[in-house]
Amino acid sequence: MKVSIIGAGYVGIPSGVCYAQFGHDVTIIDKDTAKIEVLRSGKCPLYEDGVESMMLSYRDRLHYETDLTTSSGADIIIIAVGTPSDGDGKANMSYVESVLTELKTIINDRTIVAIKSTVPVGTNKWAREILGKGRVISLPEFLREGTAVSDFINQDRIVCGRIDPSVDEDIIKLYGGKDDGRFLFVSPESSELIKYASNAFLAVRLHYVNELADACEMLGADIDEVTAGMGRDRRIGLHFLNAGPGYGGSCFPKDTRALLDFTYGNMELVSVACHNNVHRQLKIGERIKAYCHENDIHKIAVWGLAFKNNTDDIRESPALNIIDCVMKDQDLDITVYDPAAMDNSKSVLGERCKYAKDMYECADGAELLLVLTEWTDFRDLDWGRMNMSKKTIMDYRGVIDRTVACGLGYDIYTVGVGFAKGEK
Ligand code: UGA
Repeated sequence: MKVSIIGAGYVGIPSGVCYAQFGHDVTIIDKDTAKIEVLRSGKCPLYEDGVESMMLSYRDRLHYETDLTTSSGADIIIIAVGTPSDGDGKANMSYVESVLTELKTIINDRTIVAIKSTVPVGTNKWAREILGKGRVISLPEFLREGTAVSDFINQDRIVCGRIDPSVDEDIIKLYGGKDDGRFLFVSPESSELIKYASNAFLAVRLHYVNELADACEMLGADIDEVTAGMGRDRRIGLHFLNAGPGYGGSCFPKDTRALLDFTYGNMELVSVACHNNVHRQLKIGERIKAYCHENDIHKIAVWGLAFKNNTDDIRESPALNIIDCVMKDQDLDITVYDPAAMDNSKSVLGERCKYAKDMYECADGAELLLVLTEWTDFRDLDWGRMNMSKKTIMDYRGVIDRTVACGLGYDIYTVGVGFAKGEK
């Protein structure tokens, strides 16, 4: 099939290389010429595992363009542009709208126009009205940043919202041609809602786990033991139970806000999760500042800036929100490090902190180490290279081995467990 993808972002690029793997001829289109030039040179402009090697393997089937009219003649045109939050939580639909307007002159009655961007319920109907032709479907994606390629290949379900069942066969073909039971053909409205409902459900689940972590600290329980016990129940499952500083990224915060907007605030549980998630990050920032005052700490090291591991994305990163709060205290000297998100973070944090070239340089001479993103490098740290001037760690991702840390004389706070004194 001839496939065009509009939007070379965290969704468009990984999806594009995966469709090429299925044998399709794929053109990724983006107005950003710099991005397209990078792609044409064989590099991926995003930090996403596995994409570059697939770009190389399927280079004959992958094309990169800046002009949307190059999608003329495509069997399927996939819209994967951003729908960021506007000021009051609504999804900003201006990018989708301008693509639809341009597509009007390009498509014919048989062209499938697939909306992959996360869009409010009712968008498919609105798009059909704008286009006036073509077969408009809703094709939400469920990929996570950092693992998008493997998520694409192993996705649990492929949801397609459509009015016209004649597209079903094409969609099965788009995903390799075999109906293996993963396809779910539903109404456009259901499909659009499935995407928001899934993200909001996971956000609420994380909010619950984070509240449970606070309860564990209060009651003397250990969150990892508690979630291991809960997760063995197959109705609950072990995934998505890691407590932390709150969820972030370009999806959960934005999509929960948008869901509240188009359900007119009627989803109270989601509203509480949204509000408390932001509040949690501020509370953590205040707690760190108070701890520094009480313990005469001035020099802080921060490990982790990205909103989660395996990405350079800092959008709505809990780490950055916490650092921003801590930085308001002029007495604190802060050095930060992240394996992938340093460049992106510099544009936000500017001169307000120092930047280390690796995790050990970052911790060197520090009186307190904050762990704010769950990178494996931090989990696998080489204690012999640590040279802190006061041995205190606050681990908001539960990645540092407490027993080892205490044995080496570190005082350590672990989310969902509390403080432990190091052996002196
Ligand atoms: C999320 C969804 O997981 C994807 O299914 C969806 O396709 C995507 O949004 C999207 O809408 O495009 P993503 O934002 O990449 O994916 O990140 P997640 O891995 O879901 O993590 C979100 C946040 O939750 C991160 O801040 C992460 O650190 C946090 N998290 C996740 C935890 O604190 N604990 C966990 O156990 C899991």
